Amino acid sequence: MTSLFDSYQLGGLRLPNRIVMAPMTRARATMDGLATASMATYYAQRATAGLIVTEGIYPSLQGQSNPGGPGLASDAQAEAWRPVTDAVHANGGRIVAQLMHSGRVGHEEVAGYLPVAPSAVALPTPVFTPTGPKQAPVPRALTLAEIPGEVQSYVDAARRAIDAGFDGVELHGANGYLIQQFLSSSANQRTDAYGGTIEGRIRFAVEAAAATADAIGADRVGIRLSPGGTVQGIVEDEMPELYGALFAELARLDLSYVDVLATAEPELLIALRKAWPNTFILNPGGQISPSPSTLADGERWLAEGADLIGYGRAYLGNPDLVERFRTGAPLREVGHETWYQGGDTGYIDYPSHQY
Ligand SMILES: Cc1cc2nc3c(=O)[nH]c(=O)nc-3n(C[C@H](O)[C@H](O)[C@H](O)COP(=O)(O)O)c2cc1C
Repeated sequence: MTSLFDSYQLGGLRLPNRIVMAPMTRARATMDGLATASMATYYAQRATAGLIVTEGIYPSLQGQSNPGGPGLASDAQAEAWRPVTDAVHANGGRIVAQLMHSGRVGHEEVAGYLPVAPSAVALPTPVFTPTGPKQAPVPRALTLAEIPGEVQSYVDAARRAIDAGFDGVELHGANGYLIQQFLSSSANQRTDAYGGTIEGRIRFAVEAAAATADAIGADRVGIRLSPGGTVQGIVEDEMPELYGALFAELARLDLSYVDVLATAEPELLIALRKAWPNTFILNPGGQISPSPSTLADGERWLAEGADLIGYGRAYLGNPDLVERFRTGAPLREVGHETWYQGGDTGYIDYPSHQY
C-alpha cells in the first residue's frame, strides 16, 4: 500500500515523500509586496516537505487581495523571491508559487484600484484593509476586451516565477478568488462567452491554464480547485457537471497536477480522481474544516487514489511535519492570532521536535 513516506515523480521533480505543504497566506511581505528574509527562513525550515506550495502571490497589482501579501507583478518582486527559492533548494526542497488574483476579494485601499471581477457583484463578506476589515466594494465588471489582459497577468507572473527559481506555479482556482469567481453562478452573471453555460463559466480557467502552460511548459503548471466550495460567497450551479467539463478541458492541456480541496462529497472527489490522468493532490481539510488534516486523513486519501496529500495548518507550528508524522512525535497547534499578524513571532520561531 502506498505510504505518505514513499517517493513520487512529479514531472521533472523527484519528491522524497507524498506530503505537500499547502498554500497559506501569512501576510509577512513588505508593503511593496517584496518577499523578506524571514519568509526565506520560514519556507527553508519546511523544506523536507515533498513539495512546498507558497502562500497566494498576486500576479498583477490589480490582483492584490490583502495587506502584506507578496507579489510577482514586477521584476523587483521576482528578485525578492530569489533568496527564498535558493534557501529552499539549499535545504534540499522543492517550491512552486501559487498565483492568486483576488478579483472581487479586494479593496482600493490595498491595491490602489477598484477590484475587477466577472460581474459587478460585491463579495458578501468583509475584506482585509490596512485599517481593518471593511465591507468589500462592488467590483468593476471586466469588459470582454480586458479579459485577455487578465489571462496574460498569470503568464507574466509565471515567467517571473521561473526566473526567480521556482520549480513551477499553481494557479489559484479555489476559495472564491478570480478563477473561481468565473466558475461561479453567483459571482459570474455574464451573458457573453465567459458566463452562463458551463462552457462559458470554465472558459477563463482553461484559457489562463493554457496560456500559462504554453509559456513555461505544462509540466510546471498545476491548478488548485475547490469543487462546490462556498467561501467568499461562491455558488456553483450544476457543480458536478461543471467540474467534469473543467477537468476534461484541463486534462487536454496535460497540466502537471490538480490540487483539490475536499469541499465536495467523497464520491465526487473520487470520480474526479479517476477522470484525471496526471498527478492528483488532495487536501483533506478543505476550506478549513474544524480540525487540521491528519496523518490518518492522508493515508485514507492515498488509499482512495490520491497521489499526494496537502497539509495546511499542521505546517504552521511543525516545520518538521514529515519527521513528526514518521516518528509519531506530538504536533504543535497554533492559534489564529498569529496567522496574518505579521512579524516573526508565530512564524519562524517554532523549533523542530527534540527527540
Ligand atoms: C492561515 C491560512 C492561510 C491560507 N491561505 C491560503 C492561500 O493563500 N491559498 C490557498 O489556496 N489556500 C489557503 N489556505 C487554505 C489551506 O491551504 C488549506 O486548504 C486549509 O487550511 C485546510 O487544510 P488543513 O486542514 O490541512 O489546514 C489557508 C489556510 C490557512 C490556515
